[in-house]
Amino acid sequence: MNNQPTIEAFNSFYRQGMEQYNAGDLAGARSSLLKAAELANKISVGAGSYDVRMEYHRQAAKLLDFIKGPCTHPAPKVPAAKEEESAPEIKPEKGGAITFADVAGLQDVKDQIRYKVLEPLKNPELAAVYKIEPGAKILLYGPPGTGKTFIARAIAGEVDAAFYAVNCQDLISKYMGDSSKKLDALFEKAQDNERAIIFFDEFDSVASRRGDGSDGVDAEMARFVATFLTKVDGFKKSKTNKMLLLIAATNRPWALDPAMLRGGRLDTHIYVGVPDLAARKFLVNKVLKGLPLEDDVDLAKLADALEGYGGGDITAICEKIKLNAYMRSLKAGSAQKISREDCNSVLINSHNMITPADLAKFQKFRSGQSIG
Ligand SMILES: Nc1ncnc2c1ncn2[C@@H]1O[C@H](COP(=O)(O)OP(=O)(O)OP(=O)(O)O)[C@@H](O)[C@H]1O
Ligand SMILES: [Mg+2]
Repeated sequence: MNNQPTIEAFNSFYRQGMEQYNAGDLAGARSSLLKAAELANKISVGAGSYDVRMEYHRQAAKLLDFIKGPCTHPAPKVPAAKEEESAPEIKPEKGGAITFADVAGLQDVKDQIRYKVLEPLKNPELAAVYKIEPGAKILLYGPPGTGKTFIARAIAGEVDAAFYAVNCQDLISKYMGDSSKKLDALFEKAQDNERAIIFFDEFDSVASRRGDGSDGVDAEMARFVATFLTKVDGFKKSKTNKMLLLIAATNRPWALDPAMLRGGRLDTHIYVGVPDLAARKFLVNKVLKGLPLEDDVDLAKLADALEGYGGGDITAICEKIKLNAYMRSLKAGSAQKISREDCNSVLINSHNMITPADLAKFQKFRSGQSIG
């Protein structure tokens, strides 16, 4: 399928939306960006390759997050650009905005953090009996939109520590030739804190066994991998730091350099899969519970119908259902209840990003089989 016209339309709505946002037209920006998100979703559904599919899925999810978050406030004034002598350093973020209470399911991740970090920090004497030091090196892997990035942020909200978030895709594109230096500086900085979390998102961008075929990227990745391994292997030598939690997230775990995943490195591998019924109910309720609903709208049934969808898609579907009723209300001039038709029209047009073939690929990886 030729996606090119849709990609051009996506780019155009995206540009228009960002211009409107920067000019202070928030309603216009939301409408253009929503259109861009829908187009990204469409491109993603029609894409032949897994990577293109994921890339546009990710774009759609990011746009929806932007529409719900920053796009409800005017754009911050950007100070006049200063000449920078070197690339800016990665600064710790404040945790606390989201916690485990906001995360549906993913009990495995929550448990590991409890046993390896929270409890040893709370009761060091007991941990010492078993020679357990607080900290962990965790790889979160699973299909797109299942909450890997979201739970990493929730961990930052749970653990009182400096949180350094690294978007690996940005790291390698912005600091080409410099990414391993950045990584070096990042570990140094993190070690100055008594407790630190370093989160490598989209880890496959920098830690693949092979790059995209171009020599520059391959060489960059090789340097990054070498620095990462040195830093992780040498970590215990720091005196100031009492706790380091390393988390890496990827939706292409089979692409990672296996050296990253051995014992002592990212050795706790946790699969982040599609939510079970309880988690789907949690997600549906989070968006739709407490809103005006027609009697024939049953949120439990909606959660049931969303079996197999990732948490990001479920949230986006519920947001669209809500938006349908809101748009009808704007036309009617008064609040209209969310109807079955609002739900059905969204469900009919929603294609699940995560296919059975994708799930089978993850299943194969989990059971240690090689992925062709
Ligand atoms: N288990 C969950 N609990 C609560 N919200 C979730 C969950 N899973 C997904 N979401 C919602 O979906 C959005 C997208 O999820 P997120 O970006 O964390 O997925 P991801 O696994 O990191 O995807 P990718 O592999 O594409 O990076 C989140 O911002 C959150 O709103
Ligand atoms: Mg993510």
